[in-house]
Amino acid sequence: MESSAAALDAAAECISRARYVVALTGAGLSVESGIPPFRGPGGLWTKHGEPPMDGYQRFLRDPRAVWEERLNPSGPMRELWQALAEARPNPGHLALVELEELGILKATITQNVDNLHRLAGSGRLLEIHGNATLVRCIQCVARFGRDAIDFAELPPRCPHCEGILKSDTVSFGEPIPADVLEGCFEESERADCMIVAGTSATVYPAAQFPVSIHQRGGDLVEVNPYESEITQLCRHTLQGAAGEVLPELVERVRRR
Ligand code: APR
Repeated sequence: MESSAAALDAAAECISRARYVVALTGAGLSVESGIPPFRGPGGLWTKHGEPPMDGYQRFLRDPRAVWEERLNPSGPMRELWQALAEARPNPGHLALVELEELGILKATITQNVDNLHRLAGSGRLLEIHGNATLVRCIQCVARFGRDAIDFAELPPRCPHCEGILKSDTVSFGEPIPADVLEGCFEESERADCMIVAGTSATVYPAAQFPVSIHQRGGDLVEVNPYESEITQLCRHTLQGAAGEVLPELVERVRRR
């Protein structure tokens, strides 16, 4: 499915004219990096069913057991962690970095925990569902690289406050850490244009940001091979894979 040249030109015009452009990305952006999405064709949840919604409560009840599972994953999570470990940024991630370097993209809010936006070089990046390469203290919210932590004793303890450390990825039922959520609201409230790439827009609060921008009269530019929950709200819908569409879109913005 190719998005037409006219659609790309119109979307590029919209983005170039906007005062404050923010991106919201989802699992679809990393499909071309070899990471399966959750929903839609090839989705992990589509194949294995949605995970339990009480992951955080389970962690609080027995952090040791959850860590043992995390360090020796099985089933669909094994497939996901393996793909994460091998994945590298694709042209879609790099196109967003270029748009930021052009001074047009002001921030990227990602639902992805795969660290690929950081590896690609995104500057202002808000990882609303956390980052799988980090651990976070559930007491003082300090974050550490996983390799900085000793996993001999489970659950691992925070070097700052002795609190329990968990993976930084936000579990179902876990509140989004306040520092990241605040940044997401700050950026999306300033936006008059949002590029929504690779997300089904089914999970809140992330899916609320494009809806609010639309309600305030802002423009949404969607990049997705299929319909999402917010396609109807988008001024521009570029039907195609992010790894192909985003570079073409940014090329047109650069040429303006
Ligand atoms: N390029 C762009 N979009 C794509 C591509 C691609 N190559 N391939 C698939 N997509 C689209 C699908 O059409 C779908 O709309 O990406 C979207 C992926 O949707 P989800 O799998 O639901 O991913 P996401 O929206 O990020 O999920 C949100 O749900 O399970 C939780 O925490 C998890 O962060 C995740 C959240």
